[in-house]
Amino acid sequence: MRIDILTLFPDTVNAVLHESILGRAAKKGAVEINCVQIRDYTENKQNQVDDYPYGGGFGCVMMAQPLKSCLEAVIRQAGERRRRVIYLSPQGQTYTQETAKRLQRDYDHLVLVCGHYEGVDERFIEACVDEELSLGDFVLTGGEIAAMAVADSVCRLVPGVLADEQCYTGESHWDGLLEYPQYTRPEVWEGRAVPEVLLQGDHAKVERWRRRQQFERTRRKRPDMYEKLRVTEPEDLQILREIEKSTGRIQLTEPVTCRPAAEADLPAVLEIVEQARAGLRKFHVDQWQGPYPDEKAFRFDLDRGECFVLLHGEEIAAFFTLSTREEKTYAGITDGKWTEGMAYCVLHRAAVAAKYRGSGMADKLMRAVEEQARAYGLRCIRTDTHRKNKPMQRLLRDSGYRYRGNIQVLVEPGHDTARQAYEKILKR
Ligand SMILES: C[S@@+](CC[C@H](N)C(=O)[O-])C[C@H]1O[C@@H](n2cnc3c(N)ncnc32)[C@H](O)[C@@H]1O
Repeated sequence: MRIDILTLFPDTVNAVLHESILGRAAKKGAVEINCVQIRDYTENKQNQVDDYPYGGGFGCVMMAQPLKSCLEAVIRQAGERRRRVIYLSPQGQTYTQETAKRLQRDYDHLVLVCGHYEGVDERFIEACVDEELSLGDFVLTGGEIAAMAVADSVCRLVPGVLADEQCYTGESHWDGLLEYPQYTRPEVWEGRAVPEVLLQGDHAKVERWRRRQQFERTRRKRPDMYEKLRVTEPEDLQILREIEKSTGRIQLTEPVTCRPAAEADLPAVLEIVEQARAGLRKFHVDQWQGPYPDEKAFRFDLDRGECFVLLHGEEIAAFFTLSTREEKTYAGITDGKWTEGMAYCVLHRAAVAAKYRGSGMADKLMRAVEEQARAYGLRCIRTDTHRKNKPMQRLLRDSGYRYRGNIQVLVEPGHDTARQAYEKILKR
């Protein structure tokens, strides 16, 4: 990997990037990092690199010509390569570990252009830059710190720079998780002991503890990352289930009541839908992964008085839609059949707010569904769920629903539309 950093301050950048691990990697020839002085490529007597902005305003703008000449010189010298010209800019895409992986994987020559003052002439960006990258939503004085961050994080992914691939594949952000906590000697420091499991020499136990820590601390420190997790390994799924079961369990200290949903409840209901969507996504359940169920669907339910909310005190904790309309797709049941000759209602949409999961709210919801069915004068409740939606299947079975066969839904085109069908006949 060759990296050329185009800057007005090459000494500053050189001093940082040629120290420690990257310095040693450069000496070994694993990476080549050059800092190039843009000022050396000016074509005016004063070696001027910037000028006043057209249209007025504060500060100066870096001129296109020295930047382009500097870039051309670097390209001539580096020759034919898989090259990417990057301008470090607060207006760029936010730089992440995924960007670092992509740059290391797809290119072997990065040219990092550092702006200064008010930035660079827009025409240089249009003509010469492949991509703009930002270190974050804040403004630096110059692009050097950002260029150093990019160069450092890309170079450490180059084979031969770190001792082993595992040095970076286990680290924070590699697979969407934060790293587990690390400890070194002494065993007890200021009354704080190293976790027991790390001292017992059981490698498998250590591995599992560390993996669980990764999930737990990502959930605690970076809920935004946790929401986006896509878990595939069975062992990871197991850990995730354990965590979801044991954490965030809220005590139901207030009375739980059920009433028909009102217009004003819609934002809370839609928020619960979003939480459910994220939960299903995490467990790879291709249900509610498109726009459905959207505001339109709930407005329809509201108008018919078929949407209900469960309140914990004053707070909306869950909702469900129980419809008396005939469900056409249920007529096409395969691999089994419904109970014949009974008028039925359909539990269409139901979810519990994330913070109420594991609190017993889901059981209360199922009881409220039954009460509502009785209020409709119906004893047969039908519903369906995705074949991978294990928590919902468990809840249905535990609530006395029987698996009746398989159906196909129409509401989520482009997604996995196969559903398991369940039914419960209420006692007289
Ligand atoms: C003061 S900034 C110019 C900001 C510019 N006037 C704007 O508002 O978009 C000077 C230089 O610092 C660099 N820079 C500033 N903030 C940055 C960030 N968040 N990420 C990467 N580079 C940044 C860019 O190279 C930029 O040209």
